[in-house]
Amino acid sequence: MSKHKDKVVVITGGARGLGRAICKRLAEDGAKIALADILDCSETIEQSGLDSDRILQQKCDVTSAEDIESLKNEVNSKFGGCDILVHSAGIFPACPFENLSFELWKKVQSVNLDSAFHLCKAFLPGMKEKKWGRVISISSNTFYVAPPALSHYVASKGGLIGLHRVLSAEYADFGITVNTVAPMLTRTEGAEEFFAENKGMFDAVLEWQDIKRPAEAADIVGAVSFLASDDASFVTGQTLPVDGGTVKL
Ligand SMILES: NC(=O)c1ccc[n+]([C@@H]2O[C@H](COP(=O)([O-])OP(=O)(O)OC[C@H]3O[C@@H](n4cnc5c(N)ncnc54)[C@H](O)[C@@H]3O)[C@@H](O)[C@H]2O)c1
Repeated sequence: MSKHKDKVVVITGGARGLGRAICKRLAEDGAKIALADILDCSETIEQSGLDSDRILQQKCDVTSAEDIESLKNEVNSKFGGCDILVHSAGIFPACPFENLSFELWKKVQSVNLDSAFHLCKAFLPGMKEKKWGRVISISSNTFYVAPPALSHYVASKGGLIGLHRVLSAEYADFGITVNTVAPMLTRTEGAEEFFAENKGMFDAVLEWQDIKRPAEAADIVGAVSFLASDDASFVTGQTLPVDGGTVKL
């Protein structure tokens, strides 16, 4: 219960999938949580069992700097700032490069990568003032595996990894660590939608893993919880694959 006691965590994409599972784990460990999503987060709140003084829900499109500014203001006024930023919101529509429009390319960069720019601009100054902070974004091990039909997605997740590596160097003096977690296929609502449209890829992914079962969201949250904790204070600038042994760095 005490691992993240009274730490304030902002989780994007908290309405479902990995964001919901991360919320549940960090809530169990004592955190106060702000959920930001374009979808309603009531089910996550219900499943987390948090009292209203420990939870905040904010409709927020992570592509919008204005939405993120107002998220920051709400977090500051309710909780007095953010200690841990977990950026899980993301989209992964498959499309071979030959058919990929520039509109879809830009949309994926905007949701998956530009969002991190806005979020870090909003929340890093407060962490710097407190001289403690954690930034954890969900990248993807597709950056290493580079499967077909995901050029736009892999580019966005690679950009996220690059951004976090440099922010690690720029913010280390202020007690702030900056890392990403890289899952492979994980059973979430988003992944179920993806694989419904991309039959066959599911089995291919299992072939690459040492552990021959699909990951559940619960398999990913331990890595996030560790990186968010004091135990990980000397771990920064890293991308941690949590993928059943697919990628060995
Ligand atoms: N599930 C997987 O297999 C897998 C693997 C590797 C990486 N990831 C990454 O993990 C993260 C979470 O994925 P998931 O599987 O939980 O997906 P999901 O679709 O189940 O959940 C994603 C959440 O992000 C929210 N979201 C989408 N666009 C948004 C926007 N513009 N503003 C605010 N919120 C927005 C959605 O509403 C949703 O609640 C994503 O960044 C994804 O790329 C997932």
